[in-house]
Amino acid sequence: MLNGRRVLLAVTGGVAAYKSAFLARRLVEAGVDLEVILTDSATEFIGTQTFAAITGRQPHRSLFEDESVSPHTELARWSDAVVVAPATAATIARIANGVSSDLLTATLLATEAPVLLAPAMHTEMWEHVATRRNIETLVEDGYRLVGPETGELAGGDIGVGRVSEPEQIIEALEALFDQSGGGRRLVVTAGGTREPIDPVRFLGNRSSGKMGHAIADEAARRGFHTTLVTTSDLPALPSVKVVRVETAAEMQSAVLEEEADVAVFAAAVADFRPAEVFGEKVARADGMSSITLQSTPDILASVVGRQNRPFVVGFAAETGGVERAIEKARAKKVDLLVYNNVSEPGSSFGSDTNEVVIIDSGGQTDPWPLMSKREVARKLVDLILTTIDPQG
Ligand code: C5P
Repeated sequence: MLNGRRVLLAVTGGVAAYKSAFLARRLVEAGVDLEVILTDSATEFIGTQTFAAITGRQPHRSLFEDESVSPHTELARWSDAVVVAPATAATIARIANGVSSDLLTATLLATEAPVLLAPAMHTEMWEHVATRRNIETLVEDGYRLVGPETGELAGGDIGVGRVSEPEQIIEALEALFDQSGGGRRLVVTAGGTREPIDPVRFLGNRSSGKMGHAIADEAARRGFHTTLVTTSDLPALPSVKVVRVETAAEMQSAVLEEEADVAVFAAAVADFRPAEVFGEKVARADGMSSITLQSTPDILASVVGRQNRPFVVGFAAETGGVERAIEKARAKKVDLLVYNNVSEPGSSFGSDTNEVVIIDSGGQTDPWPLMSKREVARKLVDLILTTIDPQG
């Protein structure tokens, strides 16, 4: 899986830097086309010649002393993936804040390649509120993490903060290249629909679109041809085809235009819309004592009812227990239903985290612990893949 891949290994200044020489060696053995960046502090722990001897190329050291006039953008474009190992607390803080103060951080800011971080630091630093915040930001921004592990640290301390072993880092790197979506087509809906009352007012809901956007990004990373039909302005990866819509009706026509193997309905679709939409803004003086509503189309049902229906994943945002969602999974004939209780603080609309229960078509439930929406997206795409293709 790694043979022929262009990997940029960035080594930062921690005592675990010596382990990255073993990692570099293993990557070269696996057929990786390897370039190395060493930060200034990395060279306090390990020499450039070590990496030059292992890779057959001089490591890159600086924005200004490289042969290239723009080493950061060249390395950024060249890389299929970037591994930062070890990643110190200082480097993690810089990356999380978009600081571009040296060759490594400038390259990371310029690259669209997936980035894997292998943190290494003392337990106190790993557990510091600032590091916690930075790690959360990085996970939210789509960076992948491997480790840190628990074990012996520099100076004889024992705790969490030990860099992962080369084998674990290589396994995590292989997962970055996992293209098991294999060109299948996936459509995902996201955000809350807005149903107009007049040109300035609408009926809406609090859905942010974060969950659906995270699913679209993850699916695209895993090789699905991904279309995201969304009401949200949140960004999506360049490889995701984004169709911005506003109303349930627009969302339905955009979804029905897509031929899909997998359809994920993460949007909070308004169930009702104003029966009459005023052409002009209704003046306060004219008053509006009531709004007559009519049902919106059920987008999910229209896809489930199709011949050759795709694999369908529904979402059930509830404010009560899971029972209603189990009934909904059956009634809506979905292949998987993701239940979350939006009245819980960690699972509310707009939150970066989600605590969900997965319900399969037979009504079996699997509660997942509280995790970031990115992690839920990752696990959900895994589950979709293993359910549609159990042989892998
Ligand atoms: O609103 P409800 O909880 O019934 O939504 C269940 C699922 O159906 C969700 O996945 C939602 O995106 C989808 N849905 C839809 N069109 C609607 C209402 C809901 O696609 N009009």
